[in-house]
Amino acid sequence: MSHTDQIPLARPSLGEREEELVLDVLRSGRLSLGPMLERFEHEFAAWLGVEDAVAVSSGTAGLHLGVRGQGWGDGDEVITSPFSFIASANCLLYEGATPVFCDIDPVTLNLDPEAAEAAAGERTAGILPVDILGYPAAMPRFERIAADRGLGLVEDSCEALGAVDSDGVKVGARGVTATFAFYANKQLATGEGGIVVPADGKAAEDLRSERNQGRAPNMDWVDHDRIGFNYRLTDVQAAIGVAQLERAGELLAERERVAGLYSERLAQSGAAPAGDGDPAGMVLPCSDRGSERRSWFIYAIQVPRGADRDAVVADLAQRDIQAKAYMPSLHLLKPYAERFGYRPGQFPVAEEASSRLLALPFFPGMSEAQVERCCEALEEALQGSWV
Ligand SMILES: Cc1ncc(COP(=O)(O)O)c(C=O)c1O
Repeated sequence: MSHTDQIPLARPSLGEREEELVLDVLRSGRLSLGPMLERFEHEFAAWLGVEDAVAVSSGTAGLHLGVRGQGWGDGDEVITSPFSFIASANCLLYEGATPVFCDIDPVTLNLDPEAAEAAAGERTAGILPVDILGYPAAMPRFERIAADRGLGLVEDSCEALGAVDSDGVKVGARGVTATFAFYANKQLATGEGGIVVPADGKAAEDLRSERNQGRAPNMDWVDHDRIGFNYRLTDVQAAIGVAQLERAGELLAERERVAGLYSERLAQSGAAPAGDGDPAGMVLPCSDRGSERRSWFIYAIQVPRGADRDAVVADLAQRDIQAKAYMPSLHLLKPYAERFGYRPGQFPVAEEASSRLLALPFFPGMSEAQVERCCEALEEALQGSWV
C-alpha cells in the first residue's frame, strides 16, 4: 500500500478564505492585538449569540484565566471529570486549587451530576464540567447545584463548539464562563488558540488584562496593574479563525455527515449507540437526547469488552489507518495518582471508558470509501485482537 493511502486521525479543512485573510494580516503589518483579533472576537460572539468573547493563545490558557476569574486557589476544591484531557484539571492546579474527581455518566461520558452533588463538601468552591467529545454537559443541573450551594462554575467547552444543551441553548451561551479551543484537530482550527466567553463585562475586562501581562487597555505598554500572562492570540491565528467561523456551519455539518456514515456502517455489523445496545459489544457514541445536540469532535467507539485495543491500534497502523486510544482517566495519570493518592477502581465508569475508547480517523471531507475502509479494517483487526 502506498504512503498516499494513509488515512490520518484528523485533518483541518483550510481553504482559499483562510489564505486570503492570513495574507491580509501579513500585508497589514499588524501581527498582534490588531484589528483582526478584534474582528475574530466580535464575530465569534455574534455567532454564539453572546455579548463578548476574549481570544487567548490556547484552550488551556483560557481555562486557566477562567479559574483565576473565579478566585479558586489554595484550600479550594473543585469538582471535575476524571474522563477528560489533562488540561481541564491542570488549570486548577495552576492556581493551587484541588481537583476533586467523581465518576461519569456511562452513556454521555460526562461528569455525573449526582456524583458531583454527592462529592460536594465544606471545601468545595466550584464545579468544572467538561463537554467531553462534544457532548453537552448537564449544565442546567450543575447550575442548580452551584446555586443551591453558592459554588462557582467554569465550563470546559474546548471540544464542543456548536453543541446545544438540554435547554436548547448553544454550549457556551448560558452566561457561565466557558472556554473553547482551536487546536488543529478541533471543529474550528487555528493551529493553536482558544476563546473565553466571560460571564459579564467585568470578567471580560479582567480576561483582556490578564491575557496581556496585566495591562489595562488605556495603560502604557510598560505599566501593569496586576499579574498577568502572555496568553495572546496572534492576528494570523485570528485570521484563520475568522475564515473558519464563516465556514462553521459547513464544517460542523461535514463532521456530522462523516459521523453518520460511521454510525450507519457500524450499526450494520451489530454495534449500537451507548445506552441502546449490549454494553459488552462494540459501543458507538450515544445518540442525542431531548434537545441536546452533540458537536462532533472525534468519532470514538468503545471496543468490545475483552478486545485488546492496543493490538487493534497497531493492526490499523499496519494498514495505514491512524487510530488512537482516548481519553485517559486523569486520576490514574502520574501527576494526579502520586500527589492525591488516587487508585484504580475509584471511578469504574471512567476507567472502563478509558480502557475501551478508540478514536477512528475523522475529518471534514472524509469520503464514504475511506469510512468503509476504516470500518472493514476495524472489524478485521478486532477479530484478531481477543485477549
Ligand atoms: C477537554 C479539553 N480541555 C482543554 C483542552 C486544551 O486546549 P488546548 O490544547 O488548546 O490548550 C482540550 C484540547 O485539547 C480539551 O480537549
